[in-house]
Amino acid sequence: MSVCLMLTLSALSSVQAQTANPSSSDEIAKYRQMLADGNPAELWEMRGQELWQKKLGPNQQSLEQCDLGKGPGVTKGAYAELPRYFKDTNKVMDLEQRLMHCRINLQGLTPEQARKTPFGSAGNPSDIEALVAFLTAESRGMKLAISTKHPAEKQAYEIGKKIFYYRAGSHDFSCASCHSSDGQRIRLQDLPNLNNKTNAQAAYSTWPAYRVSQGEVRSMQHRLNDCFRQQRFPVPDYASDTITALTMFLAKFADGAVMNAPALKR
Ligand code: HEC
Repeated sequence: MSVCLMLTLSALSSVQAQTANPSSSDEIAKYRQMLADGNPAELWEMRGQELWQKKLGPNQQSLEQCDLGKGPGVTKGAYAELPRYFKDTNKVMDLEQRLMHCRINLQGLTPEQARKTPFGSAGNPSDIEALVAFLTAESRGMKLAISTKHPAEKQAYEIGKKIFYYRAGSHDFSCASCHSSDGQRIRLQDLPNLNNKTNAQAAYSTWPAYRVSQGEVRSMQHRLNDCFRQQRFPVPDYASDTITALTMFLAKFADGAVMNAPALKR
């Protein structure tokens, strides 16, 4: 990591302390400018790469032979084609499901160990978030190319679409209630219209992201969990098929976007 990044980070925390309400678009632009050529997500990416290469678990294996869809060990561009159908498990998997699969099958972790601490907090970093940061960075600059050719992929997409438009709960909200028209806001936050392809691409291609407000790299699953909460829905289990289906829908709609994650967000 550059010294420059260290300096901007310390400058950033003092700005945060002085700023009463950092939620407007101006503030985001300011953060972005300050961190212009250094995203703290780099630290997660580096730790993730180490974890990928390190012999771990009861089997003392690295993840280097994990097949993310482009063959064992291929990390470049793999994320840009996920979720996808995997023959060996006969199901559509997103990155985090596949990662879990490899940690169980290659490293010998139990399912409980493989899904432990999906989201980090101060003093309790998440290996999963670090691995996800590394693997998504391996698709930076590449175009999303999501297949719905296999019937299972098509089915996951259709289920994801249903979830997106499904209204229920105490407020009778669906995802679409907050994300399908232009110019909607909650408090000071702009709500992206995910029914608009350009917006959907901008949103999808920038997750995971280093959240300045949380001081953590957050995955797409974390983003979706927060949205389920805002929707007053129960939060789906970590790495569940529900999340994969919804991710399939969002990814397919954003197809063709140039990946630029992990990004930097408020
Ligand atoms: C009650 C309103 C609400 C509902 C319902 C809701 N969201 Fe969100 N969503 C938000 C807010 C607020 C943000 C954060 C906007 C920001 O910080 O810029 C957000 C952000 C997002 C983002 C990231 C956009 C970006 O540009 O980074 C995605 C993707 C998303 N929501 C998907 C969903 C999905 C899928 C659902 C249904 C499970 C959903 N949302 C339901 C309010 C909602």
